[in-house]
Amino acid sequence: MCGIIGYVGDRSAAEILISGLSHLEYRGYDSSGVALMNDKEVNIYKAPGKLINLIEILKTKQNICAKSKIGIGHIRWATHGLPTTQNAHPHTCNCKNLTLVHNGIIENYQELKKELEQLGARFSSQTDTEVAAHLIAYEYGKTKNLLKAMLNATKKIKGAFAFCAIHKNEPDKIVVAKRNAPLIIGIGQEENFIASDIPAIIEYTKKAIYLSDYQVGVIKKDSIEIYNDNGTLVPNKIEYLPFEAVAISKMGYKHFMLKEIHEQGDVVRNILAGKLLSPEKNVVLDEFKLTKKEINNIKRIQIIACGTSYHAGLVGKYILEKFAKIPVDVEASSEYIYRDTIADKNTLAIGISQSGETADTITAIKQIKEQESHVAIITNRVDSTLARLSDSLLPVNAGIEVSVAATKSYIAQLISLYLLTIYLFEQKGLEQYKEEIRTLKQELMELPSKIEAIVENTTNIQEIAKKYSCYKDFIFIARGINYPNALEGALKLKEISYINATGYSAGELKHGPIAMLDNNMPVLALLNTGVVYDKVLSNCEEAKARQAKLIAVTNYIEPKDVPLFDDIINVPLGSETIGPAINIVVLQLLAYYIAEYLGKDVDQPRNLAKSVTVE
Ligand code: F6R
Repeated sequence: MCGIIGYVGDRSAAEILISGLSHLEYRGYDSSGVALMNDKEVNIYKAPGKLINLIEILKTKQNICAKSKIGIGHIRWATHGLPTTQNAHPHTCNCKNLTLVHNGIIENYQELKKELEQLGARFSSQTDTEVAAHLIAYEYGKTKNLLKAMLNATKKIKGAFAFCAIHKNEPDKIVVAKRNAPLIIGIGQEENFIASDIPAIIEYTKKAIYLSDYQVGVIKKDSIEIYNDNGTLVPNKIEYLPFEAVAISKMGYKHFMLKEIHEQGDVVRNILAGKLLSPEKNVVLDEFKLTKKEINNIKRIQIIACGTSYHAGLVGKYILEKFAKIPVDVEASSEYIYRDTIADKNTLAIGISQSGETADTITAIKQIKEQESHVAIITNRVDSTLARLSDSLLPVNAGIEVSVAATKSYIAQLISLYLLTIYLFEQKGLEQYKEEIRTLKQELMELPSKIEAIVENTTNIQEIAKKYSCYKDFIFIARGINYPNALEGALKLKEISYINATGYSAGELKHGPIAMLDNNMPVLALLNTGVVYDKVLSNCEEAKARQAKLIAVTNYIEPKDVPLFDDIINVPLGSETIGPAINIVVLQLLAYYIAEYLGKDVDQPRNLAKSVTVE
């Protein structure tokens, strides 16, 4: 959460910082700020709200912007204190010589604050970051050296952080440090960059150093020095960044979310390429590192994830248990980490995360690694912390996802889970459902064109979105393998339109939620062919009897059942197993068009951030 950027070189730092922050807005966007340094001074500018407010301020500071060739910037997702100018980063110390931006949470900030107050520090914000600024400044007072001050200060700090600091007395450098929060140093020609994520700097360089936990870096325009926590210089490990700049443009779509929904056909093609060649051939999954013997020894699977990725994991449970015959638990990472969990070397742990930086999932995966389980990570970011923790890395290759609401990464995670399931089935040499597995492979290959058929004709969805956008509440119901999509569809709607939407297993409706039903409560049912068709239909009847407005998203509906529904959205036919990968596209579009119709900030919904790097 929050975005960090830094620049040192010969160009106007302000321009690079603003451009970088605009690519990091998806990480947080409730306030922003920059510190611009030249030989004589450091100038700090901050603004609450969207980045545009900061840009407006900088327009009036052209002189300072032109002469400042070094700077640090930050875009905030508030953790401590309201999103005000005072709480926006950068933060500084009493003498204002030290300036700091920070991503993460300092857990012992209250103790540190008390100690620093006794030493004379005066605080003007409610943030934990300001405490770190005072602490580094205090250490600077003892050492008169920013590198040493950072090394000493970070030893006293508990929690997660990526820091970027500058000091008026050392106007040629930025000093950085990190622990459990990502930070990369982009390498240019006579210029260097710092960012919490690749999109901020990819247009300037493809070469970078990933700072490791407990390291401190000193970045000048013509040198990068990395030290370990005892102050020893370590060799620079240069890597190549994986993204193209074009991937972060809207390409003519009104919102990134719509673009990303439209990309899903290609996302599926990409992930299947080289892995699923024909329904007759076995799935190739070289990235999965367990041998046949080890696969046969897997006694259980634990899937760990948050939010949308958690919903993908729930679909995974249905298919892995049915086809691979392995018991699966799916748990929200935040729940996994504060209890005594049981796992061992015969447990396969699967962490699912679009960003690969979700703090709760990282903590849970570290916990499970200690229990010697094999850790497979399904992620969109091969450069992420979770990717680095994996034993088997299963990249979903969905391309950068900018919209805060996850769409294409969800489909990609589902496809990854389908492939893994088929792979385990085939490696175990199982017989039951052999024909279904062949059909599933066929359907996976046909999936891109089915997705494209949905996104290319959205008239009906748009009309229904308009009709239902006035409702304040929504219920999504489904059963079986589509149940996780009821949760995901409701999540999509609530996060971008702020409509109170809840997903329920259709069978659970009568155990409580039915009390809420009346003609002000639309119920959207995922009605697919398969064993639960009649059951979902009965639950719809029960809802209708309470005068709820009923919408069906269906791949097949018996003509006799049509009159039950107020509105119907048809999706292409497919088996029960492939259903979630098809009908989710409709739910994403429905949420999108409702939010768009209500004039909401679709790509950057309030209070959210793309990458949740705090626990
Ligand atoms: C919802 C959404 C979030 C994320 C969750 C986990 O649209 O995007 O619920 O799914 O924060 O993030 P990752 O997948 O990056 O671990």
